Amino acid sequence: MIDPERLPNDIQTIRPQYLNEYIGQGNIKKRLGLAIKASKIRKEALDHVLLVGPPGLGKTTLAHIISNELGTNIHVTSGPILEKQGDVAAILTNLEHGDVLFIDEIHRMNRSVEEILYTAMEDFQIDILIGKGPSARSIRIDLQPFTLVGATTRSGLLSAPLRNRFGLIMELDFYSIDELSKIIERAAIVLNVEIEKDAAILLAKRSRGTPRIALRLLRRVRDMSTIRGKVKIDIYMVEEIMFLLGIDKEGLDELDRKILRTIIEVYNGGPVGVKSLAASVGISEDSISEVYEPYLLQSGFIARTHRGRIATKKAYNHLGIKVQRGLFDEE
Ligand code: ADE
Repeated sequence: MIDPERLPNDIQTIRPQYLNEYIGQGNIKKRLGLAIKASKIRKEALDHVLLVGPPGLGKTTLAHIISNELGTNIHVTSGPILEKQGDVAAILTNLEHGDVLFIDEIHRMNRSVEEILYTAMEDFQIDILIGKGPSARSIRIDLQPFTLVGATTRSGLLSAPLRNRFGLIMELDFYSIDELSKIIERAAIVLNVEIEKDAAILLAKRSRGTPRIALRLLRRVRDMSTIRGKVKIDIYMVEEIMFLLGIDKEGLDELDRKILRTIIEVYNGGPVGVKSLAASVGISEDSISEVYEPYLLQSGFIARTHRGRIATKKAYNHLGIKVQRGLFDEE
């Protein structure tokens, strides 16, 4: 099966390799830069790092940057792939001093795998059970000091003992228009396509604060520029592609609008729980909570109450749906 998270080659190479090439997330860059520098002076492994944030904000990119900055190897795996303790033990025992072990979707590890990581992270040791029944015995294996970089879409999904073992917990924010347009301009150079400044800003505005989306949209507009004989990308081309892709002025796509319309029309504006909403819209609960909801919340189209999600006045206005009398009177 094709992994939708895997990007085509050209997009992979345009990922920044070092902190000074990375645009945005200023606070994270500062904290990471400091910790990396100090660990290199002390010749110790960097403290374990947990990167938290919605998909596409650069968690994987940062993990690679950490290993590049440290000058060590990176071993990449993900929570759902690690099924048995032996799977993790095999990886851990292969790590060299200071290496980075990147576990994507770390909240999706099973309990037994998680438990072996506790001692690995804390003492750089693991205990493995050999054999079965009365002759079973446990052996202790020493590991090289390493840095675990975990990525998760929601830190609340991580168990407390695991979360507490990370020395550096970093929450990624959505990117500003200015940062995204810089990312687009940088990527355009690598992709060998010319783009006007206002076109880059317009693309940035439609990218939901997310570099992965910005780069995907840039590639779609680049297709048009290629077909038209490599002309410089302008705002008209961007508008044309956005119309074709059904992306509106707020950067919302058909599914975002369906979610808002469902809350308003099926649930009278809410509150509605994720489960019911997911069933009505026809997508998974995880997609709602991890992919769609964070941006809709951040940009003020929905709000979360203790009884569930509600559509805001901004959502009604955006969809051109008349607000029922009394609904927002207290505002
Ligand atoms: N490409 C994707 N994300 C990026 C970022 N944050 N900075 C620079 N280039 C990027």
